[in-house]
Amino acid sequence: MFDLSLLSRKARPLVGLDVSSSSVKLLELVGGDGETLRVERYVIEPMAREAVVDGNIANMDLAVDAVRRALRRFGAGVKGVAMALPASAVITKRIMLPGGLREEEMEVQVESEANQYIPFALDEVNLDFQVLGDAVGEDQDVEVLIAASRKEKVEDRVALAEAAGLKAEVMDVESFATQSAFDLVVRQLPQGGKDQIIALVDVGATMTRVTVFLNANEVYTREQVFGGNQLTHDVARMYGMSVEDAEAAKKNKTLPETFAAELQRPFVDSLALEISRVLQFFFTSTQYNQVDQIVLAGGCAVIPDLPDVVKSRTQIETLVANPFSGMAVSSKVRPKALVADAPALMVACGLAMRRVEA
Ligand SMILES: Nc1ncnc2c1ncn2[C@@H]1O[C@H](COP(=O)(O)OP(=O)(O)OP(=O)(O)O)[C@@H](O)[C@H]1O
Ligand SMILES: [Mg+2]
Repeated sequence: MFDLSLLSRKARPLVGLDVSSSSVKLLELVGGDGETLRVERYVIEPMAREAVVDGNIANMDLAVDAVRRALRRFGAGVKGVAMALPASAVITKRIMLPGGLREEEMEVQVESEANQYIPFALDEVNLDFQVLGDAVGEDQDVEVLIAASRKEKVEDRVALAEAAGLKAEVMDVESFATQSAFDLVVRQLPQGGKDQIIALVDVGATMTRVTVFLNANEVYTREQVFGGNQLTHDVARMYGMSVEDAEAAKKNKTLPETFAAELQRPFVDSLALEISRVLQFFFTSTQYNQVDQIVLAGGCAVIPDLPDVVKSRTQIETLVANPFSGMAVSSKVRPKALVADAPALMVACGLAMRRVEA
């Protein structure tokens, strides 16, 4: 049910629901189909720490509470949502199939292909596929993306939505949703980022994910266990606060003056070092020897000085992602807050852009 055959299809926009380790994010975009999209509303609601671990729902009750709280703040009128599984829960593979196959013929081919590389019985997985690129003639092969995930991973998220009164109509993959939002960011670059090697650096609460793209193709990806939680824990320790209070104080900027120099700056320095290390791995393990642009995303992207420090350490142009910069903004949304939250809303943005076909 990664968006396709297993769920009903409706030609209306869906609200993006991103459930991650640190928060629940809801985002609604309206318009589209030629019109400028408008950011209608969004919320970022903190998630209890033990609720989602490594992308898995570890405590359903706590996760449901967070989604309900998010919905209360978001407002009424939400039913259909687009959700995503973490990339780690999904096996994807690209295969070539003859063009001109009927849907059912393709299903048979996909299943037999999937049998060969999925390490579980097929009745334990949700399997879906999507033809990539434009439809071509009958005599040409088409590239097909297969995605498979263990059923319980999908069912957990569907159940989470349901318990909060929502219906998961699309189950995407976080990395795909991120890439849709990233495409919007890349379009803002000179020449639309054409032929540029661009590293998307997503610094979340627990993980830093670096994905390198060239002309919308992923050429490298790597994850490091490093994220904003480190800084939050340092704050909690230094100022004798609970982790929850430390997290809130960090975001609301209500910490003592010593925070910037004693905690934030060392964190930014380690993060920049971490990023430059990952790029070194990229250079040594691929044919590429340069990166033209770094795009920072994830909640930590807005930490002051981070772009400058990353730029000076790596000698690579660095900007902070804002997938909404070409969109209109409803009067319900504070533009300044949106810019600050934008890098953390990449997955939610990609999900909210999903239109389910009729
Ligand atoms: N304004 C801010 N200033 C500093 N840090 C912030 C700010 N906003 C969010 N963060 C930090 O960003 C992190 C959350 O980012 P994000 O929402 O991208 O993470 P996540 O997707 O839940 O985590 P992960 O991808 O690691 O599972 C937290 O550590 C949070 O403290
Ligand atoms: Mg994340």
